Amino acid sequence: MKSFEITANTGRSLVVVGERFQNLMKYVDAPKAVIITDTKVRRHYGRYFPPFAVIEIGAGEKIKNLDTVRYVYHRLLSLDVDRSSFVVGIGGGIVCDIAGFAASTYMRGIRFGFVATTLLAQVDASTGGKNGVNFRGYKNLVGVFHQPEFVLCDPDLLRTLPQQELACGFAEIVKHAAIADADLLAYIEKNCQEALSLERDVIEELIHASVRIKSDIVTRDEKERGERRILNFGHTFGHAIEKAAGVRHGEAVSVGMVMASRLSARKGYLTQEDVRRIESLLVQLGLPIRLPLDGKKVLDALVRDKKREADKIHFVLLRGLGCARIEEISISDLASVLDMRG
Ligand SMILES: NC(=O)c1ccc[n+]([C@@H]2O[C@H](COP(=O)([O-])OP(=O)(O)OC[C@H]3O[C@@H](n4cnc5c(N)ncnc54)[C@H](O)[C@@H]3O)[C@@H](O)[C@H]2O)c1
Repeated sequence: MKSFEITANTGRSLVVVGERFQNLMKYVDAPKAVIITDTKVRRHYGRYFPPFAVIEIGAGEKIKNLDTVRYVYHRLLSLDVDRSSFVVGIGGGIVCDIAGFAASTYMRGIRFGFVATTLLAQVDASTGGKNGVNFRGYKNLVGVFHQPEFVLCDPDLLRTLPQQELACGFAEIVKHAAIADADLLAYIEKNCQEALSLERDVIEELIHASVRIKSDIVTRDEKERGERRILNFGHTFGHAIEKAAGVRHGEAVSVGMVMASRLSARKGYLTQEDVRRIESLLVQLGLPIRLPLDGKKVLDALVRDKKREADKIHFVLLRGLGCARIEEISISDLASVLDMRG
């Protein structure tokens, strides 16, 4: 078991990798606690939950909206949850985003923590303090920065995760390695089969290394004014592909990383061999590296998404494996990457 703390302006967060989720009670020191979880997680693990009231939300990106948050507020109110209470989100990225947002806004903010149950949530969504929901087709448009008090990452929970969901988590691990740690990339290449079969030492090492990279970046730039943007590697195209093609977040990010890597190679920052290594690793991890896409639809979604950045697209490129660089890129450059996929 490995643990470390994230200290940010919006709170301190204890991240514990390798902790059994049955030990959750150790981390909740409040007179009253409420669990927020989704239907599938409750079906798999509800019988092991501590004896707290449970608020169950559905599952899937379509429920990550203000209607669900409103439902959670209603339930919190009817359960007499007050500012001395504690909220525990037990689930994947969607549960964490909703539980974190609801807890941060209910009564101007009550304490909360997470048990991350998907690989994607363990290595990415549960840490960093971004909590929010989608609004009118815009991803994560409404939200707050607020650190969870704790994040427990129990690799045993991943055994019930469908293979495709597991692959989505690996996409974010590859992202962290690609932007910040070439040795980690080599480690994943070497231990790919062990990682896929969730061999304890390997998966724990990957979760820890990955979440550590994210945490270090978040500690230096919590509110994404500069460096934190490198965590969006693969996500500019990724978010647009997710919306235009209706695929999972991690699958879209995988294709987005390939596009960003190819653009990096075209600019002379990466070698063709670097691009081949990234592509081959993603394929080995069960991720797509290209999808049948309607280029215009993807570009429309991308432009719409990036309107929030006052028309400037801060695009994350690789300056070498393990090293990211942010550049402002024109829409026409991005359109040409869509043309060169294949
Ligand atoms: N806040 C952030 O910083 C941040 C970062 C990255 C991603 N995200 C968000 O995270 C979301 C994606 O998260 P996700 O990939 O975890 O998706 P998810 O929460 O939808 O979980 C994927 C599926 O797996 C099921 N599931 C969860 N745990 C399980 C388990 N242990 N066993 C079996 N099934 C299980 C869920 O019910 C769901 O059907 C997106 O909305 C994305 O925007 C947020």
